[in-house]
Amino acid sequence: MEPTDAPALSDDALARALPAPRRLVVVSNRLPFVARPAGRGWAFERTVGGLVTGIESFVRSGKGPPEVVWVGWPGRAVPASRAASLRSEARARHGLVPVLLPSEVAEGYYDGLCNRALWPLLHSEPTAVHLEEPWWDAYRTANEAFRDAVLGELRDGDLVWVHDFHLMTLPALLREVRPDVALAWFLHVPFPAYEILRVLPDAWTRALLEGVLGADVVGLHTHDYARHFLRAVRRVLGADAAAGRLDVAGRPVRVDAFPLGVDFARHDEAAQRPEVVAERARLQAAFGDARVVLSVDRLDPTKGILQRLAAYERLLERRPDLHGRVVLALVGVPSREDVDAYRRLRARVEETVGRVNGRFGRFGWVPVHAQMRAVGPDELAALYLVADVALVTPLRDGMNLVAKEFLATRHDGEGVLVLSDTAGAARELGEALLVNPYHPAGVADALERALGTAPEARRAASEPMRERLRRYDAARWGSEQVEAVAAVRQEGRRLEARFATTADLSAIVARSSAARRRVLLLDYDGTLVPLVESPRAAAPDAALRGLLRGLAAVPDTTVVVVSGRDATTLSTWLGDLPVELVAEHGAQRRPVGGAWTDLASRDTAWHASVRPVLDVFADRLPGALVEAKTFGLAWHHRAADPELGPLRARELVETLEGLRLPPHLRVARGRDLVEVRPAAVTKAAALPALDDPTGTFLLAVGDDATDEDLFAALPPQGLAIRVGTADSRAALHVRDVGDVRRLLARLVAAGAAEGVP
Ligand code: UDP
Ligand code: G6P
Repeated sequence: MEPTDAPALSDDALARALPAPRRLVVVSNRLPFVARPAGRGWAFERTVGGLVTGIESFVRSGKGPPEVVWVGWPGRAVPASRAASLRSEARARHGLVPVLLPSEVAEGYYDGLCNRALWPLLHSEPTAVHLEEPWWDAYRTANEAFRDAVLGELRDGDLVWVHDFHLMTLPALLREVRPDVALAWFLHVPFPAYEILRVLPDAWTRALLEGVLGADVVGLHTHDYARHFLRAVRRVLGADAAAGRLDVAGRPVRVDAFPLGVDFARHDEAAQRPEVVAERARLQAAFGDARVVLSVDRLDPTKGILQRLAAYERLLERRPDLHGRVVLALVGVPSREDVDAYRRLRARVEETVGRVNGRFGRFGWVPVHAQMRAVGPDELAALYLVADVALVTPLRDGMNLVAKEFLATRHDGEGVLVLSDTAGAARELGEALLVNPYHPAGVADALERALGTAPEARRAASEPMRERLRRYDAARWGSEQVEAVAAVRQEGRRLEARFATTADLSAIVARSSAARRRVLLLDYDGTLVPLVESPRAAAPDAALRGLLRGLAAVPDTTVVVVSGRDATTLSTWLGDLPVELVAEHGAQRRPVGGAWTDLASRDTAWHASVRPVLDVFADRLPGALVEAKTFGLAWHHRAADPELGPLRARELVETLEGLRLPPHLRVARGRDLVEVRPAAVTKAAALPALDDPTGTFLLAVGDDATDEDLFAALPPQGLAIRVGTADSRAALHVRDVGDVRRLLARLVAAGAAEGVP
C-alpha cells in the first residue's frame, strides 16, 4: 500500500478535532416507562430490561452530551385519540418522545418479527424462529414511524443513538434523508454465527445489515459478536473490513465491541442506603439461617430458568444435608406475554416451583421462594446483599447485567457468581464459576462448589472482576461510543477531502482543453467497468464504447486502455475502437488498428511447473478458476466463497513462494486473484514517449495496486486519479466507475465544444 499524503490521526486526536455533540437523541423500542391511560391523565409504569438499565445508567452519569431526549414506543395501551395528551405529558414529565404504533403494526413488528423471529434467531435458537411475510412489512412500517419521529426531533449538532434489533433498518432510513447525521447503533443481544443467520430470508438479512450500516458506529457487546457481524457483512454484502473499519460507498463505518457495564458506584454504595438496609433486614428474617441462591430474570425462554430449576433440584437430590439450610430465591419478571412461548414458560416455571416445593419442602422450610413480579432497585440490591450465590445461567444472553450488578453490589467481595459461559458477561467475568447452562448436573456441581467456597476464596475471585466493572462502567460504555462516532466522522471528512471536488474536475477539463495534446491512460476493470464475479462478464457496454470513441475523436488525443487482461480479450472487446491497448499489465501493446508487440520476453516454459499448482488450488475451491495468459498465469477467486477465497489465496502465495520460482518472475496478489508474471512487466510500460512533454495533458486513472506502478512512473506534469478511497500516490480520488465516466464525458464535451486546438 502506498503512503497516504494526509497523516493518519489517532482516534483521540480526531475526536478532539470535532465539536462534541450538544444533544443525545436516544432511540429504542422500549422506553423506561409504559404509559396507561389513568382517568384523564396517564400512569407511567417502569419497564424492566438491560437496555433501559444501561441507557439510564449512562444518561445519569452525566458523561454524555448535556441534553438528552429519548424516542421510543410507550406500549400498546395508548389509544390514538389520546396521542397529543400523552406526547405533552411524556415530554414534560420524563423527557420522552413517544412513537405510537397502530395495534396491527405493533403486533407484526413487536410480537411477530422482533419477539418470534429476531429474538430467537439472534439467541441462536433457530427452531423457535417463525417467519411471516406481514411481520416484515410491519417491521418496516414501524421503523419508518421511528424515522419520522426522529426527523421531527432532530437538530444540528445532535448525536442519534439507535438501540437494538427492533430498529435495524432505522440507521439507513435516517441516513437516506440526513446524509450528514451523526449516528451510532448498538445491539443489546448476541449476534450469531452466519450459519444461524441463514434461517432468515436473504432479502431480509440484506436489508437488516444494510440498515445497520447506515450508522457511523456499530456497537456490539463482545468481540465474538463483532466478528460474527463482520463475517455476515462479508458474506451477504460482499464488503470487507480492515481493522473493524468498513467502507460503505466511500463512508467509513466502525464495527467494534463496547461491553455494556453497570453504574458501579451506585451499586457499590447500595448497602448504605437506608431503604436497602430495611429491605435487607426484612429478607434476612424471611430466609432465616438458610444459605440463599438468587435467580433474577425476565421470564424469557433464553434465560434457562427451567434448566436452572432442574439443576437446583439435582442439588437437593444429591445433598439431603442441605435440606432446610438452603433456599432458592427466584424473581421472574413477566415479559412479552402476548407471545405464546412466554406465557407457556411462565406457567411451566410456576408449575415446576410448586412441584419442587411439594417434593422437598416441609413445615418451616420452602426450598424455592418465587416471586413472579418485578422488584424495585432497593429490594433488588437487598436480594443481592443477602444472597450467597447468584445463579445466572441463561442459555444465551447478549450481556446479562444481573451478574454484573450482583458483583458490584457485593462491596464485601463475598458473593459467588455461577455464570453461563454463553452469556456475553462471561467474557469479562472469567473468575466466576462458568457453567454450561444446558447441563443440570454440571450446574449442580458448580452450585455445590459455590456453597462450599471459603470467604477468602470468594473475595479472591470477586476482586479482579469488581475492578474490571469499576473501570469499564456504563459511563465508559456510552462515552466510548460517543467518541467513536466523532472519530469516524472526522475520518469520513478526511476521506471525503480526497475526492475530487467539482472545482477540481473543472480544472482538469480546463487543463485538458488548454493542452496541445492529450494522453489518457485508462485502466479497464474497476475503472471503466464495475467489478463483476466472472472475469468474462465485464464486456464493454455501448455507452462505454461510445465514450471511448468520443474521447479518441477529440483532436490530438491518444487514448490507451491499460489492463491486466490478455491481448485476445482486449482485441475482442475493444479492438475495433480507435484506442491503443496495453495487455497483461504492460507485457504487450497494440497501436490503434495495428498488431500486438511484446514488451517482455515471451518465455512461458515456467507455466508447466506453476500451472499444476494453480490447478490444484482451483480444484479445491469451487468457483475459483485459472486463466492462462500469454505471459502470466492468474488464479481468480472472485466467484468463490468470500471467506475461503482470500484464505486459499494466501496459502497459494505461500506455496508459490516456497517453490523458489526463477528470479525473473513475480507473485502478486491482485483484487480477488493471485498472479504469476514476469517481474519486469508493470503498467508503467504503457507510458508513451512524449515528444512535447510540457504541452501534453497526461492523465492516468486506475483502481488498484497495479495502477500505482503507472502512477509512480508519471512525469511531474502527469495527473493520477485513483478510484475509491484506498491509500494512493494519486493526487485525486473519485468514488466509482460512474464518476470516471462522467469526467471522461466532460472531456469529450469540452473537446467537441471548444474544438480543442
Ligand atoms: N431488573 C429489575 N427488576 C427485576 C428484575 C430485573 O429492575 O425485578 C433489572 C436488573 O436490575 C437489570 C435488568 O433488569 O438491570 C435485566 O437486565 P439483563 O441484562 O440481566 O437482562 P435482559 O432483561 O436485558 O435480557
Ligand atoms: C432485552 C432487549 C431489550 C428489551 C428488554 C426487555 O434486554 O435487548 O431491547 O427492551 O430485553 O424486553 P421488552 O420486550 O420488554 O422490551
